[in-house]
Amino acid sequence: MINIVLIGDIFGKEGKEFVAKKIYFIKKKYNPDVIIANGENVSFGGKSMIKEDYIFLKNSGINYFTMGNHTFRNLKINEYIDETNDLVRPANYIENVKGKGFLTFELKGKKVLLFNLLGETFMNIKVKNPFKKADEILSKNKYDIAILDFHAETTSEKIVLGNYLSNRINIFVGTHTHIQTSDERILNNKMAYITDLGMCGVFDSAIGMDFHAVTNRLIHQGKGERFIEARGGKKVLCGLFVQLDSFNLKVNKIERIQIRE
Ligand SMILES: [Fe+2]
Repeated sequence: MINIVLIGDIFGKEGKEFVAKKIYFIKKKYNPDVIIANGENVSFGGKSMIKEDYIFLKNSGINYFTMGNHTFRNLKINEYIDETNDLVRPANYIENVKGKGFLTFELKGKKVLLFNLLGETFMNIKVKNPFKKADEILSKNKYDIAILDFHAETTSEKIVLGNYLSNRINIFVGTHTHIQTSDERILNNKMAYITDLGMCGVFDSAIGMDFHAVTNRLIHQGKGERFIEARGGKKVLCGLFVQLDSFNLKVNKIERIQIRE
């Protein structure tokens, strides 16, 4: 069997530290062969992932990272992203950016293709069409197992892309909304699917941010103070466990992970 754990958007200092604290429990319970986490919200209150945080999470036990719309919100990521061979940023940016949109690695004799895409709907960022980019990546690469983190806002865009890819990839996880959905399934009897993995961070918060500034901005229709990351509340870790059969690569097990403090 091949055991894979996927962890949702790790948000800020508290999210990072909570993941590091709970990884031993995940390892004990799921015996993962690989752990993949979304790292786009780790640093500076949800903006990108600086090298120090990347190293901290690697040392904590995360093997691979996916990113999202905040990948380049802090340009310090440009200082190290091209040196990494375990981090993917969205593959469908329009402009040329550093880093890679997909990578491959060996897992128990199988070639794994890991890739990351941004959604088009309500994302405030112009991207290449994710359906066409997925077609391109999957047709140009040889792989045994393909895993996609689709970083997108709407549930509809996620399930429609999931269905579109279900014959060609093994695991599809959505990220970005920070709220875990309870719709994990084996889609079309083939592909492990969840609309959103959820977040790792302060649970009683505005999806990772302190309630105060977010509330004021909503009351005043977009004007107001800067958002700051939530501190001090109870934490949550969200993710998904997928077990693939080593021989036929079918999904043997799928289980939502939610660890609350
Ligand atoms: Fe995001």
